[in-house]
Amino acid sequence: MADNKINLVFIGDDELTLEKQLAILSYSGDIKSKVICSKSIIDSISKHTQDEHSIVIINLTANGLKELQVLNDIDGRKASIIIVGDQKNVELLSLAIRSGVKDFIDYKDYEGKLDGVFCNIKKNITHAYNSSNVKRLNAIINAKGGSGASFIASNVAYVLSKDTRLKVALVDLDLQFGSIGLNFDKVPKYTITEALDAIDDLDSISLEAYMSKYNENLSLLLPSPSDILLPGEINVSSLRKLLDLLEINYSQIVVDLPRLIDPVSSMIMEQADQITLVLQQSLAQFRDGRRLIQILNKDLDIPLDKISIVANRYDQKNTLRIEDLKNIVNHDKVYMIANDFERVASASNLGVPLCESSPNSKIAHDLKELAKNLGKVEFEGGRKNLFSRFRTLLA
Ligand SMILES: Nc1ncnc2c1ncn2[C@@H]1O[C@H](COP(=O)(O)OP(=O)(O)OP(=O)(O)O)[C@@H](O)[C@H]1O
Ligand SMILES: [Mg+2]
Repeated sequence: MADNKINLVFIGDDELTLEKQLAILSYSGDIKSKVICSKSIIDSISKHTQDEHSIVIINLTANGLKELQVLNDIDGRKASIIIVGDQKNVELLSLAIRSGVKDFIDYKDYEGKLDGVFCNIKKNITHAYNSSNVKRLNAIINAKGGSGASFIASNVAYVLSKDTRLKVALVDLDLQFGSIGLNFDKVPKYTITEALDAIDDLDSISLEAYMSKYNENLSLLLPSPSDILLPGEINVSSLRKLLDLLEINYSQIVVDLPRLIDPVSSMIMEQADQITLVLQQSLAQFRDGRRLIQILNKDLDIPLDKISIVANRYDQKNTLRIEDLKNIVNHDKVYMIANDFERVASASNLGVPLCESSPNSKIAHDLKELAKNLGKVEFEGGRKNLFSRFRTLLA
């Protein structure tokens, strides 16, 4: 927890105000250092804004525009910034927004607001720190072909990469008919087979060359869209090494497995923190689900609490209910994902995950809930962001 402590920096030209602000926040136990800078304001801004564990409170002086401009120009700034200044000054407000500050408190209100704003920012920093220490491996497999396992894996990985600040690797282990690349409109430059061939020479840095980057936090490891690999052609210990390397760079690994019980999928499922079986709402698929759970539990010795079920394309009007599924598969941990042909087809045509193209739909909500549980993470957000609060303020 030691590294999780915050450096608190107060910048401004009125020492008395800075002392007052320090007194307001001094109760907090998670503070590593407290620094007051009442001279050389511009230099102090440049000097104290590089550390991601710092919260810097800048009290704008009469030179506020210049101070915000300096802040705006700093490359690779990592600290969280709270501005205290004149909220009625629109020029200051808009420059503060452009500079990506976390909050802007009116200088007349800081005594009542500083504490709440500070606590919120501190919570987010602590959350990001704690989450980045979580390592999760999720394996997704379907109980019957076409149930939606690749669709679910793609969206779970995407949501984890967007709604947390975690690094996520999505691995497509369907080496014959993998479709993850299509879901993200990506053709790999180097494939998973090439990474496995080179495994003895790879380290966590060179491994990155084999990953196809989708966004800042999400990278894909994909099979070749043209060369098909036969079962048995993958060396399990090479794959194990590859997983170890991935774990160094990524907090969350999501593996899309083909519907095949072989040494490769068995190894992944043994290593996984959670295995999710995807099925649809029919008696035949419920029975397939039961059979697969039995194989995993009895033959592969996978404990039942490591297994989740997703009832995909769930329709409330279907006479087969979730209770029927629980009874038939004899398992309680069940998630439901809505059926939404139009939105899913449109996302697929665009080559983007559904949670990106329709983030506010019911199906996206279901997928986010699933991702939160599988990734064992809390998502950020909830509080109105600075930009929308400014819009209200200026309206
Ligand atoms: N909840 C949903 N609503 C509507 N369409 C869906 C939903 N989930 C998946 N689909 C669609 O169903 C089809 C099959 O999905 P997907 O390829 O993910 O299944 P799979 O289980 O991975 O199949 P495979 O056996 O080929 O690996 C895709 O066209 C996908 O877009
Ligand atoms: Mg698939």
